[in-house]
Amino acid sequence: HEEFTKVKNIATIELGRYEIETWYFSPFPPEYNDCVKLYFCEFCLNFMKHKEQLQRHMKKCDLKHPPGDEIYRSGTLSMFEIDGKKNKVYGQNLCYLAKLFLDHKTLYYDVDLFLFYVLCECDDRGCHMVGYFSKEKHSEESYNLACILTLPPYQRKGYGKFLIAFSYELSKKEGKVGTPERPLSDLGLLSYRGYWTRVLLDILKKHKGNISIKELSDMTAIKAEDILSTLQSLELIQYRKGQHVICADPKVLDRHLKAAGRGGLDVDVSKLIWTPYK
Ligand code: COA
Ligand code: NA
Repeated sequence: HEEFTKVKNIATIELGRYEIETWYFSPFPPEYNDCVKLYFCEFCLNFMKHKEQLQRHMKKCDLKHPPGDEIYRSGTLSMFEIDGKKNKVYGQNLCYLAKLFLDHKTLYYDVDLFLFYVLCECDDRGCHMVGYFSKEKHSEESYNLACILTLPPYQRKGYGKFLIAFSYELSKKEGKVGTPERPLSDLGLLSYRGYWTRVLLDILKKHKGNISIKELSDMTAIKAEDILSTLQSLELIQYRKGQHVICADPKVLDRHLKAAGRGGLDVDVSKLIWTPYK
């Protein structure tokens, strides 16, 4: 039945103080097929057909932030880690919501196997979801991120690069290199390219003497292939005497850094309190 229901059904959602137009089809359960608008509880992410249902729900919903553990807080920004096995309904709700903005991702019903990292802006009314990324608990392919989303009202403010940077900080704590699951969307690839460029060129600018891809990978937790492809696309790699050589003319680096866009919101690693999933 997948084949003939892949038409965008839900046109808008209400989430917290925002009404958001959706981008893509999401496979909500059949009883929601006749809705064009859905009402989400911004905290537990339960969704409802009618505004009155949501209003009743908000009176009894105890949550003021995502479930799970707060693993990062800096200023008004918090990150919560949610185990899909312990919070199955929340994980599924998040996937339904996210699919509305993700084109080619298949929805994982098996949320058990994933951790969800939800970024919130917090105020006296609670912690309001800005975006999230998911991560497999155990990845054979060294994926450190499965899906990433910044909700449309928050896009283009540097939150995406914050989430990407956060995924690499987790990899550093695990002592592993990581890479995002493919395929990446156009916006996903732009965000990653911008992040990789900035991180790598900042190091190359400061570094004196030779540096290898392996050393860059050890420092950043960025997978060697992604480093090579980033530097190659910037034409910073030459092949001399059978070896890849990184050229780091400061003027060229500055030009690329300018073109790579803004740096995004910084992750303050000293505010990350986390131990890897066992
Ligand atoms: N047009 C052109 N470039 C854009 C863009 C747009 N609408 N949105 C993002 N970018 C590029 C820019 O290079 C931007 O950097 P800059 O603002 O410094 O120029 C960079 O991506 C990242 O911007 P940032 O503000 O950090 O990201 P974001 O919070 O907007 O989130 C995504 C980026 C990819 C998470 C977001 O676009 C999104 O959720 N998209 C829908 C879901 C998706 O495609 N996820 C990836 C699946 S693999
Ligand atoms: Na992805």
